[in-house]
Amino acid sequence: MNFSLSGSEGAVIVTGAGSGLGAASARKLASLGASVVAVDVDGASAQKTVDSLATKSIAVEADISNPEGVSHYMATAVDSFGTVVGYHLNAGIIGSFDPLPLVRVEDFDRVMAVNVRGTFLGLQAAFRQFEAQRTAGSIVITASIASLRGSHDVIAYQTSKHATLGLIRSAAMYGGPVGIRTNGVAPGLVPTELHTAAADLPGGGSDIFERGATVPMRRTGKPSEVAEAVSFLLSDAASYINGDVISVDGGSAFVNSVRPSGGAGKWDPSEADAYVRTAMGGDS
Ligand SMILES: NC(=O)c1ccc[n+]([C@@H]2O[C@H](COP(=O)([O-])OP(=O)(O)OC[C@H]3O[C@@H](n4cnc5c(N)ncnc54)[C@H](O)[C@@H]3O)[C@@H](O)[C@H]2O)c1
Repeated sequence: MNFSLSGSEGAVIVTGAGSGLGAASARKLASLGASVVAVDVDGASAQKTVDSLATKSIAVEADISNPEGVSHYMATAVDSFGTVVGYHLNAGIIGSFDPLPLVRVEDFDRVMAVNVRGTFLGLQAAFRQFEAQRTAGSIVITASIASLRGSHDVIAYQTSKHATLGLIRSAAMYGGPVGIRTNGVAPGLVPTELHTAAADLPGGGSDIFERGATVPMRRTGKPSEVAEAVSFLLSDAASYINGDVISVDGGSAFVNSVRPSGGAGKWDPSEADAYVRTAMGGDS
């Protein structure tokens, strides 16, 4: 079975497919019959993902932050499958946790290069390929709750993820008239390798489950739960959704930080939970 979008059959490219959300997306798309082009700067990890897929899929080692890397993965995809119908532009890095005045310019630039320039280059390549194929298709970009809300850390990351909203909306306007849809997913807190970058710092990997307890759903998310939203947005089931961003965060983006909403900030989740249990007639 081949993956079909808007009447065309072809492969789906997933960047950052060697780990976390990209690997989960590759697995979900392959389970739907897609041939996946699994792109990662760590080629061995991309190959490992491909080895777990049941469809004819390939791994490509490429750095998505530079034009050569993007040309390489596109050329390999087209050589191998002829047509590309879907893109999950997902690769990203979290970068520096330093306080704003101490963030080094080179660290800021690197995060922007991967998360923004890499996504922009991927979009350009996708639109050029759609034009060459004379087919429509669909694109999903991994945004973040950091695209929608502020915090005092990961300044470069937040800036880059806000920029992905601009890319999503611009591409949606550009592609809409010819049936090419671009949407985003905004994951909340999902334990992956991303969080090992600052394992010992507050807001890094070490307190991830503690922070997860402040999510309205009282837990962190799973990569497979994000992959469900990605595959839906890529598919024809989302045929009239364009330029939107679906939050996959257990309700975190909708927490009112100045009201008792049970979410992040000063609220003690156990108190909020006791209140809800009482209100529902249970023990307190
Ligand atoms: N995990 C979360 O809680 C979370 C929340 C919101 C958004 N996100 C976003 O999800 C996306 C995936 O993150 P993840 O959590 O799966 O992290 P991850 O570190 O597990 O996976 C990211 C993958 O991208 C690859 N990569 C990094 N730089 C690259 C480059 N220049 N070229 C090609 N590949 C590169 C890495 O090698 C890795 O395999 C990122 O854009 C991230 O910002 C993650």
